Amino acid sequence: MKRLALCLVVLLSLGVGAQAEPKFLPVLKSYFNIPAGSEADKARCNVCHAGPPIRNSFGKAIEKALADANALDVTPEVLSKVEMLDTDSDGYKNGDELKAGFLPADPASHPATQVSPAATGPKKSGASASNSPEENPLIPNHTFHPALVHFPIALYLLGFLLEVVGIWKRDEKLRDAAFWNLLAAAASLAVVIPTGLIASFRLGLQLSLGKPVFTHFLVASSASIGIIASAIWQKRARPSGAGYWALLFITAALVSAAGYFGGELVY
Ligand code: HEC
Repeated sequence: MKRLALCLVVLLSLGVGAQAEPKFLPVLKSYFNIPAGSEADKARCNVCHAGPPIRNSFGKAIEKALADANALDVTPEVLSKVEMLDTDSDGYKNGDELKAGFLPADPASHPATQVSPAATGPKKSGASASNSPEENPLIPNHTFHPALVHFPIALYLLGFLLEVVGIWKRDEKLRDAAFWNLLAAAASLAVVIPTGLIASFRLGLQLSLGKPVFTHFLVASSASIGIIASAIWQKRARPSGAGYWALLFITAALVSAAGYFGGELVY
């Protein structure tokens, strides 16, 4: 029985861990035919971001082109609008830089720079800069939220499974264990919700409709209400009726969805 519960936990966590990647990168790569192994190829999301979701100068130019075209997705048309610009003002057009595998938002990276074999690894000159306190602050901009969220997710899903098996087997010990997991999940929200809100402010994420961060916010708030309600209801009444089942299943789905949309913001 324990093994079955364990398998289910693993399966559910895999589901939560499966992240959808923002789809701009493949379009960018194929449009500019970015050479494999080049600086631009290795930079991946950071061709447009200074660490997602913060946009660098090239990302901002794309954002403006998107807004001008009233488009949600990066398409060849949108990219053609930024191709002739030189967003890092290093004298090379964005399109020329990307086609040669250089970074359109880094003035130090352009076709004239000779990339020695030693410099193709982690940039030696840049390494000291990225270790500076400003870039690696004691409390990062995401305020540990992406790490801490795993507590309520894992605790709730474990509590959920223990409840399912406990009700099914009429095992009160399992249901006791379930309660502590649900309670711990609810308690962890006291840290997770504030860090999430602070992270969104520090990263400058706008809570506007349709943005991934808004979806995450809505789903995560609903999941939080479900987690707290499950813990309280379980403690008070040890329910096993349809309404309680519905609450457990909907909350588990919301918790997974919140993890999924949150993951989209990070990965
Ligand atoms: C071609 C440039 C480009 C690439 C490559 C790119 N992004 Fe973005 N990204 C943008 C732009 C522009 C926006 C803003 C979109 C908007 O305003 O609708 C954005 C938005 C985002 C957001 C949402 C931020 C918010 O304010 O809601 C996240 C998260 C994000 N990107 C992560 C990534 C990740 C992770 C990758 C790599 C897999 C990636 N991006 C690759 C240009 C890019």
